[in-house]
Amino acid sequence: MIRKGRRTLLSRRDFLIRTAAWTAVPFLPASTVAQSAYPARPIPKTGEQLPIIGLGSTKAVLQLAERGTAGFKLLLRTLLDGGGTVVDTWSRNAALDKLTGEALQADGMVKDLFLATKVDAVGAEAGREMLERTRRLYGKTSDLIQVISLRDLKTQWPILKEWQDAGKARYIGATVSSDRHHEAMMRFMRGERPDFIQVNYSVAETHAESSVLPLAADLGIAVLINRPFMNGGYFSRVRDIALPEWATAFDCHSWAQFSLKYILSHPAVTCVLTETTNPKHLRENLGTAYGRFPDAKTRRRMREEIQFM
Ligand SMILES: NC(=O)c1ccc[n+]([C@@H]2O[C@H](COP(=O)([O-])OP(=O)(O)OC[C@H]3O[C@@H](n4cnc5c(N)ncnc54)[C@H](OP(=O)(O)O)[C@@H]3O)[C@@H](O)[C@H]2O)c1
Repeated sequence: MIRKGRRTLLSRRDFLIRTAAWTAVPFLPASTVAQSAYPARPIPKTGEQLPIIGLGSTKAVLQLAERGTAGFKLLLRTLLDGGGTVVDTWSRNAALDKLTGEALQADGMVKDLFLATKVDAVGAEAGREMLERTRRLYGKTSDLIQVISLRDLKTQWPILKEWQDAGKARYIGATVSSDRHHEAMMRFMRGERPDFIQVNYSVAETHAESSVLPLAADLGIAVLINRPFMNGGYFSRVRDIALPEWATAFDCHSWAQFSLKYILSHPAVTCVLTETTNPKHLRENLGTAYGRFPDAKTRRRMREEIQFM
């Protein structure tokens, strides 16, 4: 794939791979998809384009010790063949980081990925140790390093700034995944102006759209979204309920796409991280980036549809 200015151009090889990848998904117009560059949005700080659907790898990484790396490698290949690049990881321990690194580096995939990692430590020594370990084992300077859940922010944030100054992180930021941390996130955003934030948001968890998201737009901060499906809880809510027919008006063909279309129709969102261990689900999620998106009136109707379930 060739990134050029604000557009992503497809090489002939990418085009053929993508055509083959998408014809496996019944409801996607494969001809349309194959001919389009994968939808991307700019990172405000630099204008670099980021594909709008990414992979949350928590579950896939946790399965590595028991199941080996084949499943995770297949997911990463599916992400790249489908036009995505963003993968969000979470360091656990040296053994899992080693397996994660093996999967990331298979077939040289890591160089095509936008690798988002996290520091999840208390204390300067533990933080630096985790950063050094992931840098060594993942085989790449992280594109983005985030302080997970604002944990030990006072210590870890200055370390991330040092790392960025030393060229060991292209972008830096922090994450939250619960509404009760949105106030703290906004204080951090106003005070530190990070390059990126990561926040929970979906058609069923809409708090961020009246708080964190408008502030990110005002301050020019890129936004990754987590919990698009409430870590699976959303699917329990819609189980056995038919998708409304009006959803096809914005090219939505499943409940997964219903939440993703809602999230992506917010202009402050840069990329949604969807967590899955299933390549078919990942293709379905990636496919949401194409086609139409709901307008303000339809977004209201979508919220109502979910609220009353
Ligand atoms: N504090 C933090 O920094 C933080 C906290 C939470 C999450 N995150 C990040 O955000 C990512 C995603 O959030 P999340 O963990 O809350 O998960 P999520 O994406 O909201 O939900 C994952 C669940 O949805 C299912 N799923 C995914 N696509 C599907 C589809 N098309 N159809 C049916 N089921 C589907 C998955 O099952 P299958 O495996 O069967 O597809 C899984 O059970 C995480 O991986 C992580 O990178 C960060």
